[in-house]
Amino acid sequence: APAPLLDPFGRAISYLRVSVTDRCDFRCVYCMSEHMQFLPRRDLLTLEELDRLCTAFIERGTRKLRITGGEPLMRRDILSLFERLSRHLLSGRLEELTLTTNGSQLERFARALADCGVNRINVSLDTLDAERFRQLTRTGDHARVLAGIDAALRAGLSVKLNAVALKGVNEDEFVALTRFAHERGMDMTFIEVMPLGEIDGGERIDQYVPLTLVRERLAERFTLAEIDYRSGGPARYMRVAETGGRVGFITPLSHNFCESCNRVRVTCTGTLFMCLGQEDAADLRAPLRADPSDVSLNAAIDEAIARKPKGHDFVIDRATRAPAVARHMSTTGG
Ligand code: GTP
Ligand code: 5AD
Ligand code: SF4
Repeated sequence: APAPLLDPFGRAISYLRVSVTDRCDFRCVYCMSEHMQFLPRRDLLTLEELDRLCTAFIERGTRKLRITGGEPLMRRDILSLFERLSRHLLSGRLEELTLTTNGSQLERFARALADCGVNRINVSLDTLDAERFRQLTRTGDHARVLAGIDAALRAGLSVKLNAVALKGVNEDEFVALTRFAHERGMDMTFIEVMPLGEIDGGERIDQYVPLTLVRERLAERFTLAEIDYRSGGPARYMRVAETGGRVGFITPLSHNFCESCNRVRVTCTGTLFMCLGQEDAADLRAPLRADPSDVSLNAAIDEAIARKPKGHDFVIDRATRAPAVARHMSTTGG
């Protein structure tokens, strides 16, 4: 059997993020530009190819598999991919099969996802205000997302909420979001906005809020205590004494966490990015299609992992206002 994946810095690659579509029913301002050109369907990996790819990684040490997008639940017949992948949970090779979603389709999908062995999901929710939500997502329906979250909880899924901290947008909601999450037994995670992709107006640099500020705001109302819980991703968690809930901080800019990086991501066209904040990538679609035996695929994966960089290149260049990485977040799913 091919060997477990180890990068040049001795980091085991045990977390794979796979984007199954670049499409989304939302147009979040920090993720997409207003008029996105989506990929033609023939460029996408088929569900069979996605299954083969995930399985190859699982055979090489992936223990946690996260399906992303775009919005993963927009991909046609996505449940059949979850159904197939669930065999790896049953065999015990895969520890966690999960997804990150905008929540808009959860009312329809939550129960079936739980039936496939998904037991924890991440839902993006940056604001509790419907009008703000509309401005941020451009096309999102706040009520539907809230109903989706409820459906997920009713289906027995553990839910983590993600909020990107944005100056002048949700700065006054950090406490309220945390309360909202904890009242429903959910984890709450805050994320520093990352400079990916050109955005309309280039205002994102000005919206950057270091999470030290979020923590200060929370500390005005709550007692925060360090805990050593890890979810397998980059978040550092604290316990809120008043609610008993957890709050996570994802700080790619103010406190780089690359040293403990355990992950790589694949786009819906089969491009492997060794780091979210770097341009270097490897094509896995060609070897996947050329060789049904997976030998070429595994060779391509080895070659790519051998080039995994030490860390990301995110810098906030206030002078040029250029994004550090040209591709949009929606291509790699975070
Ligand atoms: P769990 O820890 O399993 O709950 O998931 P996660 O936080 O890894 O996944 P999620 O999809 O919820 O991502 C939350 C945020 O973390 C997104 O903005 C991602 O872009 C970001 N993120 C995840 N992995 C990395 C990484 O390796 N580097 C950077 N810079 N950001 C990451
Ligand atoms: N910076 C930080 N987080 C982002 N997300 C999308 N775009 C960005 C960005 N530019 C978040 C989404 C979702 C997660 C996968 O990534 O809100 O919760
Ligand atoms: Fe869609 Fe998520 Fe991107 Fe928003 S952040 S446009 S919900 S993929």
